Amino acid sequence: MDKLVIEGGKPLSGTIVIQGAKNAALPILAASMLVEGEVTIDQVPRLLDIDVMLGILRELGCRAEHDDQTVRLDTTGLHSSHIPEALMRQMRSSIFLMGPLLARFGEVTIYQPGGCAIGERKIDLHLSGLQALGAEIEEDGSRIVCYAKKLKGAEIHLDFPSVGATENIMMAAVLAEGLTTISNAAREPEIQDLQHFLNRMGAKIIGAGTDTITVEGVEKLTPCAYQVIPDRIVTGTVMVAAAATRGEVTLLNTCPSHLTSLIHVLRRAGVQIAVDGDIIKVGAALRPKAIDRIVTSPYPAFPTDLQSQVMVLLALADGVSVMKETIFEGRFKHVDELARMGADIRVDLSSAFIRGVSRLYGATVEATDLRAGAALVIAGLAAQGKTVVEQVHHIDRGYDRIEQMLGRLGARITRFSPVPNNTVVP
Ligand code: EPZ
Repeated sequence: MDKLVIEGGKPLSGTIVIQGAKNAALPILAASMLVEGEVTIDQVPRLLDIDVMLGILRELGCRAEHDDQTVRLDTTGLHSSHIPEALMRQMRSSIFLMGPLLARFGEVTIYQPGGCAIGERKIDLHLSGLQALGAEIEEDGSRIVCYAKKLKGAEIHLDFPSVGATENIMMAAVLAEGLTTISNAAREPEIQDLQHFLNRMGAKIIGAGTDTITVEGVEKLTPCAYQVIPDRIVTGTVMVAAAATRGEVTLLNTCPSHLTSLIHVLRRAGVQIAVDGDIIKVGAALRPKAIDRIVTSPYPAFPTDLQSQVMVLLALADGVSVMKETIFEGRFKHVDELARMGADIRVDLSSAFIRGVSRLYGATVEATDLRAGAALVIAGLAAQGKTVVEQVHHIDRGYDRIEQMLGRLGARITRFSPVPNNTVVP
């Protein structure tokens, strides 16, 4: 397993171009299964999760190439809607394939994706949404077979604005007969991106970005070329890293409007943020101020995917802050690792009480999940001394070569890959 070795204490500085959004690319790759032909998707970052998704599409019969940041798919050869259990377990986002494959084939077999480090990750809202569209669902252990001769439009209300369930239902409804409305839908920018992609192929969807989405079913779609939006969570991660190291960083290819809640939080902490079109400039010469309360909530509120990163900044702030996590029940696993670096954080159920310290100290820490791992990298950049971050594969799921990205901003960060034990070292 790779490790990252970080020499901390150096402010980040310089300019960086943000990668395409993982959480937009994954559903868009899945949605490509709705159409027969060649689809080109630009600004798709090189990530483990993208590799797994492309592997599944190849397994189902598609041709899939990923050159630099462009994915070229040919779905003509798509012949199966049975997603292998091993591949489902590698990446729970393969659940996004349910809706498109059900709409295209009338049947899909998946396996319970199971929980992960951050929580149980149930899929009941996905299944009940597809059932509302007329799907029959049979569960046999972890195997789930879902079939429908023809999906029919329906009025669907989500008990919780689930991102994945909203996307799965949207994709299934595109080829259904009649009108589908999704109320209490998730409003994330990635859902708007999915709507834009589907409508470019001839779908008739309105309302993404609001809490009510309407889909008018169509007979078929036409292949297209599309470019994915920039990744707002990678953008936010770099912004927090710049602030935590008291650096000065310019970020290009951003969507500032996707980050209003983070920008508000960072400005409350005393960080200088300037926005000009798709450019964000971050500057922080002083110690951050504590923030009495931040609560993670569905978009456009403060995103759970930036909770661990901002906690690092607050761990260095002047005063006591409280961070409440309301989306995932297991998303404080970075706290114990930060404590090894000198952070003073106490967790009580879904709230973390963060007493800022003047500095963190390098240590050997372990990434437990994607965003917790990113937070530990930020902590290592800000800490005095050397930090070793282990289990870096978690980070590689969502950040395209994070050491190169931050290295371009002056970070002293090196990746070490273990020598395979059958290799003869010269
Ligand atoms: C998406 O996950 C993102 N992943 C997550 O990003 C993100 O944290 C999450 O949305 C919330 O914004 C992708 O887009 C690939 P949810 P998703 O369905 O769709 C419960 C990252 O770091 N729930 O909105 O799985 C669920 O248990 C990842 O990039 C049900 O109860 O999120 C959770 O507590 C992590 N039943 C809450 O809703 C369901 O059927 C939010 O889940 C579905 C979800």
